[in-house]
Amino acid sequence: TNRTFTMIKPDAVEDGHTGAILEKITASGFRIVALKKTQMTTADAEEFYAIHKERPFFGELVEFMTRGPIVAAVLEKENAVADFRTLIGSTNPAEAAEGTIRKQFAKSVGENAVHGSDSDENAAIESAFHFSGREMF
Ligand code: GTP
Ligand code: MG
Repeated sequence: TNRTFTMIKPDAVEDGHTGAILEKITASGFRIVALKKTQMTTADAEEFYAIHKERPFFGELVEFMTRGPIVAAVLEKENAVADFRTLIGSTNPAEAAEGTIRKQFAKSVGENAVHGSDSDENAAIESAFHFSGREMF
């Protein structure tokens, strides 16, 4: 069993999809280890997405991720990182498989409804960015 980190992004929270997305996640066998609604500051988003800071869309990404609240969560399941990325689907919803969260809820490559960690190492870093040890169960 291992863990991954996710955020329901501002677009999906604004549109009222939080409950439906959490239901899809738990119905797919993920256990919720930690959960909260919060809003990232510009400094938070610049740090969280530092790996993308040279990309042309970095400004847009930071603007988008800070425009409203997100729902952050730590999830547990066997093969959590890879299985969660399968569940969310391709970054670009036009390429996302049928049945994936992004196919159902994402609007564009930028406003794509959910985040999923891309490695066990980043899952641990991203979980610690949003949650203290006392918030993970
Ligand atoms: P995350 O799970 O959110 O990390 O998505 P990902 O791993 O599928 O994609 P990646 O890490 O490459 O990009 C991170 C995020 O940057 C994406 O989820 C999008 O929100 C945003 N992004 C990526 N490419 C573009 C782009 O071309 N334009 C815009 N506006 N945003 C982009
Ligand atoms: Mg990524």
